[in-house]
Amino acid sequence: MYAKAKAHTNIALVKYWGKKDAELIIPYTDSLSLTLDEFYTTTAVQYDSQLQHDEFVIDGQPVNEKNFIKLTKFMQYIREISGVTAFAKVTSTNHVPISAGLASSASAFAALAAAATKAAGMNLNRTELSRIARRGSGSATRSLFGGLVEWHHGTDDATSFAEPIQERVDFGLEMTAIMLDTNIKKISSRSGMQNVVKTSPYYPAWIDVVQHDMVAMKQAIRAQDVTRIGQIAELNAMRMHALNLAADPSFTYFNADTLRAMALIHDLRNQGINCYYTLDAGPNVKVIYHKNDRPKILKALQIEFREDQLVVAKPGPGIQYLD
Ligand code: DP6
Repeated sequence: MYAKAKAHTNIALVKYWGKKDAELIIPYTDSLSLTLDEFYTTTAVQYDSQLQHDEFVIDGQPVNEKNFIKLTKFMQYIREISGVTAFAKVTSTNHVPISAGLASSASAFAALAAAATKAAGMNLNRTELSRIARRGSGSATRSLFGGLVEWHHGTDDATSFAEPIQERVDFGLEMTAIMLDTNIKKISSRSGMQNVVKTSPYYPAWIDVVQHDMVAMKQAIRAQDVTRIGQIAELNAMRMHALNLAADPSFTYFNADTLRAMALIHDLRNQGINCYYTLDAGPNVKVIYHKNDRPKILKALQIEFREDQLVVAKPGPGIQYLD
């Protein structure tokens, strides 16, 4: 009745931003991401018939009420499909180079899906686990797999799952995260994307954009063309963030430092250094480039940002069981 698993986080190159079915977390569009080696979560699950409710300890702290409700609902689903009736003690640790920041719901729910089902005696493959992780957080669907991963939006629980495109990414694709603000974000992805789907007049155009970008991105991956991957990812991210500006109420995840980082990347490009950026539901910027260009890019970033704000991340692996 015990298992422990480790999952890495992922950063989308073609973003997921909007749910068709909020209960099952079925998105409007496909999405595509890179799993990263530097950021991961380890989670241990122990079912115990003595417990009166689930217990969750994350990074040594009991979770707040909002997270408790989200997590215990997820565990309830695992009990339904496994037939286990006992509550569980869940202990989770986020491994990030600085105290807060990129610890994301993606690695958290991927690790929990794997550990909770294994501890319940289920022996599921990664496709099945990706469907389960999806119910916790959409981006977690992709974190079961390493490298470049596609999430098929599907139309129901059975058809909405992730699939690896290339698990071993060995053509030099790399990302450096610029950690600009590691506080908890004010507008969660969940509420941000919900507002956008309801009120952003450009949402129908976004669905077309993603369809197009998925095809183009997969072509660029097949061609191992890091420049093209960066170009498509950057434009896709900007178009996602444009939806937020056009929502009612309008909002943005950018802060002044975000704009400063983006301007610096543009400057580097003007100097002939190939690098691009992407951003998720927060101000931190992730720079996309070929690893051969890393020294030049880091040198330029180090002038503007502190050493501890810059985290180099390489493609990372899929789910692993520990112990
Ligand atoms: C901008 O997976 O955090 O990072 O499904 O509501 O838990 P929920 O949202 P979440 O959203 C991630 C949004 C994104 C883009 C992406 O990862 O594809």
